Amino acid sequence: MDHWLTALKGSRVLVTGGAGLIGSALRRTLETAAASVTVLDNLSGYDRATLALLGVDDHDPSLKVGDICDEDLVRVLVDESDYVIHAAAYSTVAGCTRDPATAFHSNIAGTETVLRAVARSRHVRRFAFISSAQVYGHGTAGSDAVQVFSEDQPYSPLNLYAAAKAWGEWQTRFLLGSAQVDHVVLRPFSVYGEGQIPKPGAYSWVIAQFAMYATIGQRLPLNNGGRQVRDFLHVEDVATAICRALTADTASGKTINLGTGRVTPVRRVAELVRAHFPDAQFQDAPRPAQDPLGGCADIACMTEVLGWEPQITVENGIARYVEWLRAVPAAIPDWLRSERDRIASWNGAPVPRSAAEDR
Ligand SMILES: NC(=O)c1ccc[n+]([C@@H]2O[C@H](COP(=O)([O-])OP(=O)(O)OC[C@H]3O[C@@H](n4cnc5c(N)ncnc54)[C@H](O)[C@@H]3O)[C@@H](O)[C@H]2O)c1
Repeated sequence: MDHWLTALKGSRVLVTGGAGLIGSALRRTLETAAASVTVLDNLSGYDRATLALLGVDDHDPSLKVGDICDEDLVRVLVDESDYVIHAAAYSTVAGCTRDPATAFHSNIAGTETVLRAVARSRHVRRFAFISSAQVYGHGTAGSDAVQVFSEDQPYSPLNLYAAAKAWGEWQTRFLLGSAQVDHVVLRPFSVYGEGQIPKPGAYSWVIAQFAMYATIGQRLPLNNGGRQVRDFLHVEDVATAICRALTADTASGKTINLGTGRVTPVRRVAELVRAHFPDAQFQDAPRPAQDPLGGCADIACMTEVLGWEPQITVENGIARYVEWLRAVPAAIPDWLRSERDRIASWNGAPVPRSAAEDR
């Protein structure tokens, strides 16, 4: 049996943000390992219908509905925990830019509250801070080159969301290093998977958006011709990686990319979605300001420290997402259904199929 499964068996794990996409996958994975999971979440991320799709039951006694800035509540929950995974965040880049007050509250003040409680606790065996690949920004080679991001390259945050993650990483090392509490910092790349519902005004969850657009007969907008590349990691793989990082001896004190090490152009995502919706059409769209060409994770540290590689390819992950969406078409939010006019207003012409694509 894998070490992480035995290490987590019977242990008490607190997951902040456990009602979100990654948090719900974590909860399921931890339960498979027979851990006792407590979720702290203020349920601000989604409406009731989406929470139900994520498997969140607000009558479940292991769900504590509350805010990570609530010092007393956080202290009690941390004191009852062997491990803490801090995944709560105001989690969209565009949302943080539009609403900095909420970003400061959840991503800075909330992180500080959780870290202080962990620093004081006598039971926590390891704390995992869920950071983001956004801390790399355009990377070292400029915004128009495909990058391979390695953990030792300098921070280059381009927005408040990323800057708050960079701060959270430093504060984790500083506060927990001083308090001698074991910790690990994890930088997931682009996470997707069943249950992911795009948020209004966000442009980063392209697999879910494209599958939903194709379902309702909407053209798939290819920003910048779909040339941007991303490293797509299935949410089940992220959950497994986090659990391994929580328990691997060699992960102590490390900062670790969580990715596949593979770049997938957005246009390829659109083609993979179209394989399931043969009538889907593409349309050129402008590149959002500050949107980098992108890249992938250097996964040398992840594979060595965690002794593991992601199991779900983007091809299989997209097929799974489409299958899930077909089973629950009501998951498509109303705001996304009304995107037709906005997409049509972009002057990009429909993108013709190339002969190569149709093969
Ligand atoms: N999804 C991705 O592609 C991705 C990539 C890299 C990093 N991350 C990070 O992983 C973590 C989880 O991301 P996700 O995709 O599951 O996001 P999500 O929005 O689905 O989940 C975040 C959860 O945090 C909760 N939350 C927000 N503010 C809170 C507060 N003040 N108190 C209590 N709960 C609060 C929300 O209600 C939500 O359930 C976040 O820290 C995010 O920044 C996500």
